[in-house]
Amino acid sequence: MPLNIVVGITGGIAAYKAVSVVRSLVLAGHDVHVVPTESALRFVGRPTLEAISRNPVHVDLFEGVAEVRHVAIGQAADLIVIAPATANSIAKLATGLADDLLGNTLLASEAPVVVAPAMHTEMWRHPATQANIATLRERGVTVVGPAVGQLTGSDSGPGRLEEPEVIVRAALEVAARHGLDVGAPEARAAASASDLDGVRIVVTAGGTREPLDPVRFLGNRSSGKQGVAIAEAAAARGAEVTLIAANLEVDAPGGCRVERVSTALELRAAVLAAAEQADAVVMAAAVADFRPADVSDAKIKKVDGQERMSIDLVRNPDILAELGASEHDGTLLVGFAAETESDPERLLELGRAKRRAKGADLLVVNRVGWSHGFTADDNTVTVIDAHDRVAAEAAGAKTSVARVILDLIAERLAPGTGPTTKDTPTA
Ligand code: CTP
Repeated sequence: MPLNIVVGITGGIAAYKAVSVVRSLVLAGHDVHVVPTESALRFVGRPTLEAISRNPVHVDLFEGVAEVRHVAIGQAADLIVIAPATANSIAKLATGLADDLLGNTLLASEAPVVVAPAMHTEMWRHPATQANIATLRERGVTVVGPAVGQLTGSDSGPGRLEEPEVIVRAALEVAARHGLDVGAPEARAAASASDLDGVRIVVTAGGTREPLDPVRFLGNRSSGKQGVAIAEAAAARGAEVTLIAANLEVDAPGGCRVERVSTALELRAAVLAAAEQADAVVMAAAVADFRPADVSDAKIKKVDGQERMSIDLVRNPDILAELGASEHDGTLLVGFAAETESDPERLLELGRAKRRAKGADLLVVNRVGWSHGFTADDNTVTVIDAHDRVAAEAAGAKTSVARVILDLIAERLAPGTGPTTKDTPTA
């Protein structure tokens, strides 16, 4: 059964890319109804949208009033995709405004909604837009992108519309997650909805905290967003996910078994136990390399006249290196490298050296700094493979980066192309 998919197009330069989104969904066998806003039609013409979607295109609330079209389109929809979604349309959706056909369609629908934002970086970063996006996410809307890259003018940064194939794949993943039949096997493959079916993945996320006394700890700025995005996307693709969560700043996703830990030693114990049954271990957590040598049972007090103090630290075990050096029986090991190096070539070299030192099969090099990496919603990464080659580069929302990393994992776990999964009998 084809899905009834509404593609809302709002008024931004990237509207031309929505044509590819519509086309891919039609070619995957779905019944696509395009609802552009008035301003979207300044960027793409109605005849193009009608020809590509193979359906009439309506914009006006007062057309077809007898059929109560403003309600009917939303009621009939199985899935709604808005691409591009401008800052204005996101604000309208967050507040529930219904002053055009798209607004009415959205309010009249109970279908899952996927939004692909596109705007200038300043508009994306504006607290109003971020608050609206947070509202939409809380309501269960899936936000795809924006990607980081060249924008319409000479500027670049987060705000670029995600590539049409990424939007289509994310939209079909959402539909599959809602139990909708995403159609032909090709479409299902495009959705990657189940390419990790039954694969056991352990993901660590967050940052460890090493206590000094009952009220203080040494920690780091990792929010856990990237690891959580990987865990969530892996579960959506059918994997059995164990998320080992170290002091997350974000909610743990549904569909995963969550184990909470705090220190590096607790994380190590949880990872080593879970790794025994895992096909892949993704070490996205930021693990403290050192911990205080002594933990005081009482709050450490300053002494009168004391101007300095020092803390004696001892080395924590390197969990990834330990897994890499162990008999890990075909378990795919994915590490991260958080580096502040700004020169891209040197950054890559540091990543290669780290991958070798840790014995990881894939290493995701991630530039971090005062203003980027850790707490942001976006990430820019380069993934190095076991031959020290660049296997992928990804930039954009941490959810999009997660998808790229999982594609690499899925390729390597597919029978015959990479390490055997634990269920595969060995000769
Ligand atoms: N890691 C780990 N155990 C540690 C430290 C790090 O398993 N004690 C893992 C991280 O989860 C990550 C990878 O090793 O997947 C690299 O972490 P990173 O902090 O970038 O590197 P370090 O090994 O700590 O090296 P350095 O801080 O010297 O750059």
